[in-house]
Amino acid sequence: MNPETLKATAQAIMSPGKGILAADESTGTIAKRLASIEVESTEANRQAYRNLLFTTDGVEDYISGVILFEETLFQSADDGTPFAKLLADKGVVPGIKVDKGAKPLALSSDEKITEGLDGLRDRLSDYGKAGARFAKWRAVIDITADQPTDYCIETNAHALARYAALCQEADIVPIVEPEVLMDGDHDIETCEAVTSRVLKKVFEALESQNVLLEGMLLKPNMIIAGKKSAAQAGVEEVAEATLRCLRRYVPAAVPGIVFLSGGQSDEVATAHLNAMNQRSEQPWALSFSYGRALQAPALAAWKGKPDNVAAAQQAYYKRAKNNGAAAAGQYNADMENAA
Ligand code: 13P
Repeated sequence: MNPETLKATAQAIMSPGKGILAADESTGTIAKRLASIEVESTEANRQAYRNLLFTTDGVEDYISGVILFEETLFQSADDGTPFAKLLADKGVVPGIKVDKGAKPLALSSDEKITEGLDGLRDRLSDYGKAGARFAKWRAVIDITADQPTDYCIETNAHALARYAALCQEADIVPIVEPEVLMDGDHDIETCEAVTSRVLKKVFEALESQNVLLEGMLLKPNMIIAGKKSAAQAGVEEVAEATLRCLRRYVPAAVPGIVFLSGGQSDEVATAHLNAMNQRSEQPWALSFSYGRALQAPALAAWKGKPDNVAAAQQAYYKRAKNNGAAAAGQYNADMENAA
């Protein structure tokens, strides 16, 4: 492990006013996204869509890193340039999703454990050679009346730490993503209580497995009521609860926190990030690692048609720009009306 390499990569990703595009949808997830615009999920269509995103002119002013799915890491742009090189040439750090997805947790009632540790050391070596400098592993925690269990939280925290240690050995910055889902009808207090339990266990596991906190990034959910809850909190309440929770459980040595959007609408996800960055300075930089909240308008504009590529790129550019502003605490809703 080279701590200086890890720290430099983490700092590059956390450049002021920039954040991460999560374009690492697995084959199953991208098929759902493409189906929503009535496009078949062929390898060629997946390449065309990612090509559209990665060749958007000027977006590198707001995007410091892109998380790729394995297939995409080994694909090339229309002009033959490998995607990882195309991004790196623009100063955008290429990353790779390395988990193999959330699977049923044995002897539990319906909870999930993220798999993908077996063989990960060798895969990380291949990904590094292909240009990946950071990685992502997502654990999924669901809130129901009697869940999550400690069993689910502890096994996922242990796996996240094992993944993070393997990444650091390979000089790849691990993004540690314990996602508490916003499905369900729980209130914001329940989300905060569960996220607190999860973050506490995750950082215990990271510490006990020797992970260098200065050489990792955290990708958490925001503290937010469940989608089906009648009591939705306002923007300021979400910002306050999220910062309170993170300040209690995330060590100041972690250089950056990059939120997932998790099903929030794109503009709401931007407003939440901005509200946090408008408050007093925090121990860590706060930015975004959005999938849906960066891509939804672009996907809707594209519809799989070459004639719509420019409109789709404009839609993606706008979300990137507005989230870049939010990462600096300089966003306001009027920016949504700008051409
Ligand atoms: P969303 O922003 O759509 O939640 O995706 C981010 C991500 O990478 C989830 O793992």
